[in-house]
Order: sequence, then structure tokens, then C-alpha cells
Amino acid sequence: MAAGPLTSPVRYDPLHEATLADPYPQLAALREQTPVAWHEVMECWLITRYEDCLRVLRDHATFARDPRRLGIPVPEAQLSVQILDPPQQAGVRSLFMTALHAQDLDALQNSVDAVIRDRLQQCAAQPVVEAMRELAQPVALAAIAGLLGVSPPSLAEWAAISDTVMRSMDAGLNPALIEPGRRARAQLSDLVASWFTTTGRPTGLLGQVRARTADAGPEQAAYVRHTARVMFQGGYSTLTAALGNLLHTLACHRGIRGALSERPGLVHRAVDELVRFDGPVQGTTRLATGDVTIGDVRVRRGEKVTVLFAAANRDPAAFHLPDRLVLDRTPNRHLGYGWGTHACLGTVMAQRVLAVLVDTLLDTQTWPSPAGTAVRRRTATMRTFARLPISFQP
Ligand code: HEM
Repeated sequence: MAAGPLTSPVRYDPLHEATLADPYPQLAALREQTPVAWHEVMECWLITRYEDCLRVLRDHATFARDPRRLGIPVPEAQLSVQILDPPQQAGVRSLFMTALHAQDLDALQNSVDAVIRDRLQQCAAQPVVEAMRELAQPVALAAIAGLLGVSPPSLAEWAAISDTVMRSMDAGLNPALIEPGRRARAQLSDLVASWFTTTGRPTGLLGQVRARTADAGPEQAAYVRHTARVMFQGGYSTLTAALGNLLHTLACHRGIRGALSERPGLVHRAVDELVRFDGPVQGTTRLATGDVTIGDVRVRRGEKVTVLFAAANRDPAAFHLPDRLVLDRTPNRHLGYGWGTHACLGTVMAQRVLAVLVDTLLDTQTWPSPAGTAVRRRTATMRTFARLPISFQP
């Protein structure tokens, strides 16, 4: 058993150009050589084996999301479903789950389909488009606003706020991001607060949540508002990133079009495999609530543990031919949507949006092809594109 922090001989810099371009070789080296490795700069344990990641995500008694369980204060404005752990999390999580299940997802899917068709028509009329701005962002915004039942803010204004919030997720690597992130979150909170004070007839998921929490105490009401904020901003930025990654993979792997044209029934399984193969969320963190052993490493109480979904999803011990896209991979228990009590609340909705995009690309014969140099955004937690030049012309 390692006596102290075991620094990996594999240098892992999530913001290095080479890692941004292709993180998987480094993650594989980490997983093979030091599956539980201490990262000096990030000051956390990096967990890269699928089984170890799953264990951390499942065992919320030992691995806390909520820093307050270790006596570390959390600003009140950050207390949402994403930070609270059971049993405190249960009420707000089930409130949103119930409201989600009550939504007419078929109707929502149809409205997203209409937006995608409209955008694709416009994209196909130009030789090259910046697919994040022209397709991924507007589709994600329409989908999230539709789900929550709110009028979407102007895309240009909103994209800037969301971008700053997303970048601040890497504040551990770059403290200069903390203050802009705080300001952007305040703008976002104002927007969300306006949805809770509106007097119009509430609709969508938020309408349902508002109706069910009309008599909630101030603490519960705050958790609900903060969770609405996480759903809107987190859902938007993650879905945007996922749409971009998916378009990029479709554009670069030309065989997918033929395979899906022959077996259109495969689309739902294929979009899940695309999230396993190159998903947007690279990892998440937890804090050890006591001394615990992971693999052959002793993790001490209070130490930070980073579960690298992207590494786990390419672990050959869990996935046959992990570096290959296997469109009909079954079973496919990847961690791209997380696992356990903090697993993604938007999975079903995200899967539908991704599938509608692929179905519509097939239907309209506007399959993407690369049309210039794609540039990854310099963010560690979210794998996404800053620029994605694509041609949708036949
Ligand atoms: C393909 C798109 C998406 C992917 C890959 C994704 C992935 C994830 C992952 C990995 C987590 C777990 C993080 C952790 O364990 O700390 C998560 C949590 C979450 N996701 Fe998503 N997400 C997506 C889209 C969405 C959408 C569209 C929504 C909202 C409609 C959403 C809402 C949430 C919420 C609220 C949480 C926090 C849940 C909790 O902590 O209890 N996500 N997501």
C-alpha cells in the first residue's frame, strides 16, 4: 500500500493543447500505470479505473459531494441538488424527477425537431458554418427552455453568461476565473428568480415545481431555485457540448452514416455510444469523509477525489475495444451521465435531443463533414469546442 500521495509518472495536464485535442492516450496511461494517482496541482486523487469510479459514485456515505460534511462552508447560493447529499438531497431531487416525468417529452421532442430542421436548412445553404453557434447552441437553448417552460433569453447574451459559469468550473486550476464566475452566476440567479416571481400561468417543468412548492419553507424554496438554475445552465452547457462532440464524431467517422442508414433503429443506442466515446463531462469530484483504500492507495479523510468519467469510459476491463465506436454496443453502462445519487437529471431529455439530431441529419441528407480546423475550448471539466467548422452540404 502506498504510504503517502503517489504522484503519477504520467504527466496529466487537462489544459495542455495535446490533452484538449485527445485526452484518451494520457488517461489510458494513467489508468494502466497509476490508476489512483495524486495530482500535485489539482491537489486531488485522480481515479481512472471504471470499477473504482463506480465505487466512489455509489458510496455517497464515504465520498461526499457536500463539503459541509467535512466542515467546509458552502455559499448559500450554491446549495442545489448538485451539492446536497442524501438525506438532505432527497426532497429536491425527487421533486425535479417527478416534474420531469410529468412532462410531455414527445411534444418537446417535436418542437426540438422543428428547430433542428430549421437550423439545418439554414446551415445547408452556406458552404461552411460554425456549428456550435449555428446549431448546437440554439438547439440546446430551445430544448432546455422548452423543458423548463420558460421563454428563452437572447442567445448571444445568454451564451456569454453560460460560458463564464462553465469556465469557472475550472477555478481550481485558475483562480482568476472565480470572480467572473461569481458575477455570471449572479446574473443567472436574477434570470431564474424572475421565473419564480412571474404571475403568468406556470408551464413546463418549472411550472410543476412551483405549484408543488408554493408552501415550502425558505430553505427548501432556495434549494429549488438553485436547482432550477443548475438545470438551466448546466443542462444548456452540457447539451451544447454534447451536440458539438457528436457532430464532430459524425463528421470524422464517415462509416457511421452508412451504418445508421441501413439500421435506423440503432440511433438510440448509437447516441449513447457517442456519449461514451467522447462525452462532454470529463469528471467530477468528491471528498473522502474518512480514511479509505481505493485500489492499493490509502486516501485520507478530507482529501479530494476526482472521478474521471472519460477514463472510466475507455477502460478495457469494462468495455470491449474501448477506443472503437461500436454503435450497437450492448450493454453500455458508461458513466457519461454519472451514476448514483448525483446522476444526471436530464439524461432522458438529452438522449432524445441527440437522437432527434441524428434522425434529422439522416432524413434531410445533410450529414456533417469537417470544413476547417476545429478548436477545443480550454476547459478541463467540460470537453467542448470553441469553434467547429462544418459543412452540411451534400
Ligand atoms: C448529453 C448531455 C448531458 C450529459 C452528458 C450530462 C452529464 C451529467 C453528469 C456526468 C452528471 C453527474 C455529475 C456528478 O456526478 O457530479 C450530471 C448531473 C446533472 N445533470 Fe446532466 N448531462 C447532460 C445533460 C443534461 C440536461 C439536458 C440537463 C437538464 C435538463 C441536465 C441536468 C443535470 C443535473 C440537474 C445534474 C445534477 C444532478 C445531481 O447532482 O443530483 N443534464 N449530468
